[in-house]
Amino acid sequence: MIDEIKEINNLILKESKSIGTKDELESFKMKFLVKKGLVQSLFLKMKDVPKEDKKDVGLLLNKLKQDSESIYKELEEKFQEEEANTPSIDLTLPGRNSNIGTQHPVTQTIDMMIEIFKDMGFAVAEGPDIEDGYHNFDALNFPHDHPARDMQDTFFIQSDKELVLRTHTSPVQIRMMENMKPPIKTIMPGRVYRNESLDATHLAEFHQIEGLYIDENVSMAELKAMMMTFAKKLYGDNLEFRFRPSFFPFTEPSAEMDIRRPGTTKWMEVVGCGMVHPNVLKSGGIDSEKYTGFAFGFGIERITMIRTSLDDIRALYENDIRVLKQF
Ligand code: PHE
Repeated sequence: MIDEIKEINNLILKESKSIGTKDELESFKMKFLVKKGLVQSLFLKMKDVPKEDKKDVGLLLNKLKQDSESIYKELEEKFQEEEANTPSIDLTLPGRNSNIGTQHPVTQTIDMMIEIFKDMGFAVAEGPDIEDGYHNFDALNFPHDHPARDMQDTFFIQSDKELVLRTHTSPVQIRMMENMKPPIKTIMPGRVYRNESLDATHLAEFHQIEGLYIDENVSMAELKAMMMTFAKKLYGDNLEFRFRPSFFPFTEPSAEMDIRRPGTTKWMEVVGCGMVHPNVLKSGGIDSEKYTGFAFGFGIERITMIRTSLDDIRALYENDIRVLKQF
């Protein structure tokens, strides 16, 4: 019996050392301390101990019971204390939103427009932001004294060599003609720059999508039909638009299309267009007797304003997340 008590005592000491969680402590209690546990069951065996040994064995057994219970108590207190020191989770706190980035509305518009024009058979090309005066002006039939060449419209990089930040995407038309033979059917998206004062519909840096279609028998009627198809595809049937005659040195005749801003009476010019001027075809090395063509240039920020119902163009570039995340 004494050996048995010692054995269980050793077992308790050994096992209590490896208790690391509340659950393990509970198993320890079930194994040793409950009524049917190993310690209590030793008490049942007391009746078989010879009378003269009962006192000594009883003392040892009581000590085993007290020791094992105090080991349990100590560990229980330790776990309780640890729990009290662990910060609790406040389930009433509002969750934290992580913001996911989206495409800028102007990029969205460019992608949508590329898709629509691709469906109409246009390829996509790009040209340089820094242009020479020849491609930005001369080849496009601008007379030498044209006011657009003036300092107030154009950002000059080097006035001696006439390097400029392109004021429109039309110079890419010339680059296309220089490098391709008709038929040419291409759109040319890109950034353009003007030394302009800013207001609700003007920026000094914005985007255009240029279009050029050159082939035999290309007509003004086709141009108008294409602009109307495009506008309907982008905005749906309820859109109100109008064509106005206009002037550009590089197209003849020239026109502009205005779109009514949704929910207002205001018209906004969104595209300039026209039949490519014979002088421009000549600059591009194209036989103007054989070929005709049309060209157009959309202001992408303005298209975006209509698409998003923003009434100030500057809101697109103020990077206010409350504005941008709506689109
Ligand atoms: N380049 C003209 C502008 O920036 C737009 C345009 C392009 C007009 C092509 C006619 C043809 O205003």
